[in-house]
Amino acid sequence: MKIKFLLVLVSLFFSLNSCSKEDNDVAETLETPTANAPKDVNDNGFKAKWNYVSNSKSYLLDVSTSENFDTFVANYNAKPVTDLNEVVVGLLGGTQYYYRVRAKTETEISDYSNVISVVTTGSSGIPEDPTFLKVKANKVANPFFVGMAIKASQLTTGSPYDIILKNEFSSISAEYEMKMDQISTASGVYNWSVADKIVAYGNTNGINVHGHALVWHNAVPQWLKNFSGTDAEFALEVKKYITDVVTHYAGKVKSWDVVNEAVDDTDGKMRNTIFLQRMGANYVKDCFQWAKNAANAAGDTKLLLFYNDYATSTNIPKQDKVFSLVDDLKTANVIDGLGFQMHNTYLSPTKAQIETDLNKAVAKGLKIHVSELDIQVNQFNDITTFTNERRLVQKAKYKEMVKIYNALPVANKYALTIWGMRDNESWIPYSTDLNHVGNDWPLLYDSNFAIKSSHTGFLEGLD
Ligand code: XIL
Repeated sequence: MKIKFLLVLVSLFFSLNSCSKEDNDVAETLETPTANAPKDVNDNGFKAKWNYVSNSKSYLLDVSTSENFDTFVANYNAKPVTDLNEVVVGLLGGTQYYYRVRAKTETEISDYSNVISVVTTGSSGIPEDPTFLKVKANKVANPFFVGMAIKASQLTTGSPYDIILKNEFSSISAEYEMKMDQISTASGVYNWSVADKIVAYGNTNGINVHGHALVWHNAVPQWLKNFSGTDAEFALEVKKYITDVVTHYAGKVKSWDVVNEAVDDTDGKMRNTIFLQRMGANYVKDCFQWAKNAANAAGDTKLLLFYNDYATSTNIPKQDKVFSLVDDLKTANVIDGLGFQMHNTYLSPTKAQIETDLNKAVAKGLKIHVSELDIQVNQFNDITTFTNERRLVQKAKYKEMVKIYNALPVANKYALTIWGMRDNESWIPYSTDLNHVGNDWPLLYDSNFAIKSSHTGFLEGLD
């Protein structure tokens, strides 16, 4: 009896032990490999690399031009590789690729590794899409104006600017020649000639004219800075200026930035400008009211009045303040739209930040003008030439912005304006406000007026 019991115990021990061993085998799932940065990147390929996974017999390599691996580069759809690297060949120059791997045994395949992004060297050789921006923008379900910031000197018939403007753009904003310090030479004295040339160009060529900007702290004429009258007299000067300019261009300019950049970058306060100091906290509302009254008196009841500012997608106290200003202007029934300058970089703002910001304007029923778009690629001054990597991220960022804009409800769309034509003429490297030390390539055309990948990105955003 005792022996029988012992035998049972021994056999039970063996059976349990073998059972747990089997369990161990089943439980042993294949580790996920880690893909590493590529080596030897050249014009038509690179060496993809990854880490060893114990027990694996081989690896399956995917290479794609899409981050989601919707499609695969021929021969690189789960290509079996026994090594820990593979020289990928037959690719295009100057092109963005992605790769990932899985580990494999005879019976198992692991999860996908992380995705590695790599841009081949050289130029892509793929010509940019030559479609004209406004032609494609006019074909979308809810079209909008495609705008360009211009200078009067560029508008000579037959100049490259003139040809590009007429082909590609349906709206213009004066880069600086319709600001107060350009138009107003003394109290009640105006230099209309340059601004008139810009407005006439738009009007004769069927191009929308956006007025930029009636009141801006960075464009106060010297005589007004030095004005020695009382605060009430100062306010009357501003009122006279707004009234005279809006009247002069009534029916010729479709919209005006009435006040530009009234909110500070710190703590969501009002910016401490000469206008705030001389006219008090209600000055923004007063300026809008004067603009509206002048337009109505001139018989232009359709003039659109915008408040315009920058960095509201990333600076939330500033965003909040802009929208509280907007609420006051809405209560007074004097505002039609909001201008989002969008002097962006290849890293910022994110898609979500832009959408949150614009959606607040949608919720308030405002027209939205992306009013001064440019996308820097060298804000840290870490490149000396426009690299393929930056070219492609910039293209993606332009595409993202246009896609967000194009998806807005019809009632909120107005225009998306690019702040300058050629990279070498952009205000970005020269601005004392931005403190951007190096060169940059923020726009849609290079110094030879050739379209860049950013231009193709703009077009792709309309798909
Ligand atoms: C800039 C122009 O690009 C420059 O040519 C000019 O010297 C200064 O102003 N926010 C605005 C624009 O609202 O008017 C500014 O334009 C850029 C920042």
